[in-house]
Amino acid sequence: MKIFCTRMLVSKLLVFLVLLVLLEYRVIQGQQPYINNHQSDCYNTAYDNLTKGFGCNGVPSCQSYLTFRSNPLYNTAVGIGYLLGAEPTQIASINNLTSEVATIPTDTQLVVPVNCSCSSLYYQYNVTYRLKDKTETYFTVANNTFQGLSTCQAMMSQNKVGDRNLSVGLNLLVPLRCACPTSNQAASAIKYLLTYMVTWGDSISGIADLFGVDQQTILDANQLSQDQNIYPFTTILVPLNTTPTKIEHSPPPPPPPAPTPQTPPAVLENYTIMQRN
Ligand SMILES: *[C@@H]1O[C@H](CO)[C@@H](O)[C@H](O)[C@H]1NC(C)=O
Ligand SMILES: *[C@@H]1O[C@H](CO)[C@@H](O)[C@H](O)[C@H]1NC(C)=O
Ligand SMILES: *[C@@H]1O[C@H](CO)[C@@H](O)[C@H](O)[C@H]1NC(C)=O
Ligand SMILES: *[C@@H]1O[C@H](CO)[C@@H](O)[C@H](O)[C@H]1NC(C)=O
Ligand SMILES: *[C@@H]1O[C@H](CO)[C@@H](O)[C@H](O)[C@H]1NC(C)=O
Ligand SMILES: *[C@@H]1O[C@H](CO)[C@@H](O)[C@H](O)[C@H]1NC(C)=O
Ligand SMILES: *[C@@H]1O[C@H](CO)[C@@H](O)[C@H](O)[C@H]1NC(C)=O
Repeated sequence: MKIFCTRMLVSKLLVFLVLLVLLEYRVIQGQQPYINNHQSDCYNTAYDNLTKGFGCNGVPSCQSYLTFRSNPLYNTAVGIGYLLGAEPTQIASINNLTSEVATIPTDTQLVVPVNCSCSSLYYQYNVTYRLKDKTETYFTVANNTFQGLSTCQAMMSQNKVGDRNLSVGLNLLVPLRCACPTSNQAASAIKYLLTYMVTWGDSISGIADLFGVDQQTILDANQLSQDQNIYPFTTILVPLNTTPTKIEHSPPPPPPPAPTPQTPPAVLENYTIMQRN
């Protein structure tokens, strides 16, 4: 009798554990794995699943957002809208710009709305880019011009012309990385996924602060763990419950108080991003 009971207990426990593992698996399956700097190796096909786009694992299309940093070539809502196939009026209103043609200071992070949709295996937003210079390659277009919002692997798989045969004036399809919420995410009130372009000095906790979201939801959405590195010019998905607004960086810390002999030096929090060679 006693042995029988123990067996029952053990088998129940096993069933419970199996269910737990299955549940965990489902949750992990529901999100998108982080690209982990594999976009930098254009001819490595081992990570196609990560580099070609975020897999279609939710609704077929959705409103989504991405971030872009203004630079001297793209420094107005009109210019950025032209590059990213987005509506200048929407860029201006989300980012509280005075007008669609007002010059945006260099390095301002902007939120840009795009319509994301599933194209066979991967979510993407198609834009066309006309090559301007003979030094341009799939890598420089994806990394430098589009700031990592696309990848050379995704571009090479969707354009017929080989990397060596690119020429000025050629129109290339640039699939921008975007994603739609999974049913798990929708169930936890996530409305949009914003494609955040990582830059030097970024950390997940810093990105979470920028959008007022919990750090753990970003880690989960990207299948990242707390101790993993993130790399510049890669994309991180930020799950949002509401429509994003202008990105406000917190003001610089107030100047330190007048030095007193006993005050130890202030220790600043510093997050570094490792650059893999
Ligand atoms: C990776 O790609 C293969 C097909 O190329 C597919 O069968 C598999 O499900 C993908 N894995 C993930 C995690 O998306
Ligand atoms: C995105 O989709 C909406 C609704 O379908 C449409 O009104 C809008 O013009 C689209 N925007 C772009 C930039 O294609
Ligand atoms: C938007 O800009 C106006 C003036 O240009 C300013 O008064 C207002 O506070 C800004 N709003 C936000 C949310 O930054
Ligand atoms: C990617 O582009 C950025 C500028 O947008 C540049 O600073 C960086 O060096 C580029 N990365 C590589 C590996 O060329
Ligand atoms: C985007 O481009 C791909 C070709 O690579 C095409 O299959 C897909 O239908 C396009 N998506 C839209 C929304 O036009
Ligand atoms: C480049 O163009 C040449 C001549 O048109 C063609 O033979 C070759 O296959 C092309 N190479 C690639 C990689 O597209
Ligand atoms: C972090 O440290 C690096 C190198 O020591 C420095 O260049 C950078 O400015 C620091 N960043 C912050 C936010 O303190």
